[in-house]
Amino acid sequence: MTDLSRFQHPRFARRYVRISDRLEDLGAEDLRRELVQGLRGAIADIGCGDGKNFAHYPATVDQVVAVEPDATLRGLAERAAECAPVPVRVVPGHADELPIESHSLDAVVITLVLCSVPDPDTALAEVHRVLRPGGELRFGEHVRAQSWLGGAVQDLLTPLARRFDGNCHLNRDTVAALRRSELTVTRLRRFSFPFAPLLPGEPMVAGTAVKRG
Ligand SMILES: C[S@@+](CC[C@H](N)C(=O)[O-])C[C@H]1O[C@@H](n2cnc3c(N)ncnc32)[C@H](O)[C@@H]1O
Repeated sequence: MTDLSRFQHPRFARRYVRISDRLEDLGAEDLRRELVQGLRGAIADIGCGDGKNFAHYPATVDQVVAVEPDATLRGLAERAAECAPVPVRVVPGHADELPIESHSLDAVVITLVLCSVPDPDTALAEVHRVLRPGGELRFGEHVRAQSWLGGAVQDLLTPLARRFDGNCHLNRDTVAALRRSELTVTRLRRFSFPFAPLLPGEPMVAGTAVKRG
């Protein structure tokens, strides 16, 4: 049995539920809907949190395995799964060692997770392993700012975010990690998202990366 103790952040988990409800009104709901559009077959939602993506999966999705290491969030995801429009099975696990067979999935969905995993290169290698050839990763992540100043501010704030926001690295260069991986980025949209009132928008990316057949 995989040891998930280092991924338990109960205080952050309880706070995240309130935060994620607010983010939906600020536009996260539209982003989730856009990200899962056109998906079909067997998919995984890695680091599913409280299950905010579930409501948006189209009927062409046959089944979702939702992997979540944090026990508090997993409990909430199980409840969200009961109301989902497609079958969702919530399982314990983490991105570095997915409890999923190799080459078995048509798609993987990751939203706001690669900032928190211990090593994005390992996580993306796992995504590549579980996808079938031609399968795709749909991602929506906050990322390192492109400006020098933005990156410097993120560097300063990251130790706090890691401590209080479930190991979140504000300054993580996830686009570079995607480009280093064995996946091929086929679509990438940059935009900024208003995570907190009064603060400048957080730099984000959303897109698709494919496992070449
Ligand atoms: C900011 S929340 C995002 C949750 C959800 N994906 C969403 O879009 O609302 C970050 C999530 O990543 C999960 N997480 C953290 N480390 C992880 C890891 N190593 N593997 C998988 N998930 C992880 C957390 O437990 C949490 O559910």
